[in-house]
Amino acid sequence: MTINRVLSGITPSGNTLHLGNYAGAVKPQFELLKKGVESYYFVADLHALTTIQDKDRLEKCIINNVFDYIALGLDPENGIYFRQSDVPEHSMLAIVLANYIPFGLTNRMHAFKDKLAKGISKENINMGLFNYPILMAADILLYKPDGVPVGEDQRQHVEFARETARYFNKAHGETFPVPEPLIQEGNASKVIGTDGERKMSKSLGNVITIFDDEDVIRKQIMGSYTDPNRKHASDLGKIDGNPVFVYHDIVNDDKAEIEDLKNRYKEGKVGDVEVKEKLFQAHMRKFAEARRKRKDLENNMELAREILEKGAEKAKKVTQETMKEVYDTVGITNKLNR
Ligand code: TRP
Repeated sequence: MTINRVLSGITPSGNTLHLGNYAGAVKPQFELLKKGVESYYFVADLHALTTIQDKDRLEKCIINNVFDYIALGLDPENGIYFRQSDVPEHSMLAIVLANYIPFGLTNRMHAFKDKLAKGISKENINMGLFNYPILMAADILLYKPDGVPVGEDQRQHVEFARETARYFNKAHGETFPVPEPLIQEGNASKVIGTDGERKMSKSLGNVITIFDDEDVIRKQIMGSYTDPNRKHASDLGKIDGNPVFVYHDIVNDDKAEIEDLKNRYKEGKVGDVEVKEKLFQAHMRKFAEARRKRKDLENNMELAREILEKGAEKAKKVTQETMKEVYDTVGITNKLNR
């Protein structure tokens, strides 16, 4: 299948990006961009309302997320980056699509069921959270993308959007192409945390972040688990599943250095400290430009505003066309229109 157009979003939750997000979602997205695939990326600020109902906190979360993405390389010359709320067709299409989606399908969604599992009763769950996948289906289908690059955690949501397209097409004829989830296979989709046990996740406190201060990142790296069976630098070490080598593979562009470290590690000829020190250096090299750019953005809000404005303008070219088609198709546009 050829991928000509992709779309993806991220809900700003206040968490700063870590290597798990980077390998599982951000990096593959940027690779598509580099290959010249027409790319739409947005910050799902309306989705954030499902969990953040505090004006100041919401603002902070959104701005941080926008800075992260622009710093990593999204700008109008390089993909189309915008805010969901700047493109009203997202909300408009969600209202229409809701009518084609069975309650049962929505009721089976993990994100919603997870909340129930945490003891929140169905009676009290907010409808935005229940409707989350409907808005997300609208986000996706509006752009008629071939693929949706996301992390493994979003698979079910993309499945939901595919189902939505099928229901709508069944009622009205081929309108929405059914998009493919583009999900990294294997290690990239679930990067192991620094505890060496669980998937890297902010809430577990086992992350290596991208934009924190140098000393914070150094601490995260130095505190990481390695091969638990290796007591001395001269013991033969294991590479597979060893967190520090998983991270080297993600951030270290000096492949010869990685090879050398892995070989010496297996032979018991290198200590953890050297492996970690080189990991820290590689991290700093990899993200030096992004980290600098992010600092600049903090002092120049106007730049971010401009980027988002241009992005929304470009996005609307597509969304207005789709929305017109949808209103025509379902019959909201009729003889009463001029
Ligand atoms: N649910 C995604 C997340 O939690 C964000 C998102 C919203 C999204 N709309 C989307 C992702 C459309 C891909 C496509 O980060």
